[in-house]
Amino acid sequence: MALLALVLGMILRAVAGAQPLARHELPVSMWRKGSKNCLSKGDAACFERSRASGDCGDLLCQVGGVISAELPGRVPRKELFEAFAVAELVERHFPEQREVVDFCAGCGLLGLFLALLKPGRKVRCSDKKQPAIARRLQATLARHWPHLSQVSWEEEDIRYGNLQAANSELVTACHACSFLSDEVLFCAIESRSPVVLLPCCYEKVPALPERPWLPKWSWKRWPWLEGGAVNRLGRMAIHRARTQRLAAAGFEVAEDFIDPEISNMNLAIVARPAGTH
Ligand SMILES: C[S@@+](CC[C@H](N)C(=O)[O-])C[C@H]1O[C@@H](n2cnc3c(N)ncnc32)[C@H](O)[C@@H]1O
Repeated sequence: MALLALVLGMILRAVAGAQPLARHELPVSMWRKGSKNCLSKGDAACFERSRASGDCGDLLCQVGGVISAELPGRVPRKELFEAFAVAELVERHFPEQREVVDFCAGCGLLGLFLALLKPGRKVRCSDKKQPAIARRLQATLARHWPHLSQVSWEEEDIRYGNLQAANSELVTACHACSFLSDEVLFCAIESRSPVVLLPCCYEKVPALPERPWLPKWSWKRWPWLEGGAVNRLGRMAIHRARTQRLAAAGFEVAEDFIDPEISNMNLAIVARPAGTH
């Protein structure tokens, strides 16, 4: 019975995925880019049309087309647009960067785009657990771009405070929630690595209970947050504290943004150790 329900579900999802939708009348550039609905089979033709007409960048359309056709119903549209936008932002600021580590990598699409934008770039993804979709995405896209199989993965729980980067690596993280962003900054400062960070979840009432088994997961680690006093002042205060800390550590710091239609958590901290242009 359970098997029958599973098979029926799969058939229904496949049929639904191929149905034309109102969105399919629009060029890809006019889609709702922050939608959490998954790319579907019918989207592949739209990417192809948008690519042919020059409506959207080639690479975005190619990757979007492959995911829609070969992994329908698995990847939210937002993930595609966001990963591409962040990868372009990294590329704008660090076009020569040959090594990248993406913390809190999730489905790993940012790392894959970074590898696609510069074949030969060494990309390492890290998350507390590599999700199954990350494996499938990499395998699917690597059938079209074989060098993507070189993107490596590590499982590491940031709360243990063991993140490491080489100073030849650019540290990146897209939507590392709350203190995960602070720990990513801590790591970049320690290793004197350039960094592109899009924080999210600026907690105004942060809970950071003592956990003896996580001794490094503590306010002491991020003095710029002043034991939570800065958090209570809200998002921009947290942002300022982080950028000031980077500047005090000898980094040149800038801000950049991705399209707010993709996410309202669209502010990026871009920093590099001074004198490393
Ligand atoms: C909001 S998601 C962002 C995922 C991806 N970067 C993106 O932009 O789609 C946050 C990610 O942080 C990861 N994460 C949460 N807690 C973590 C921890 N303690 N150590 C490492 N990764 C963690 C989650 O597994 C998740 O993939």
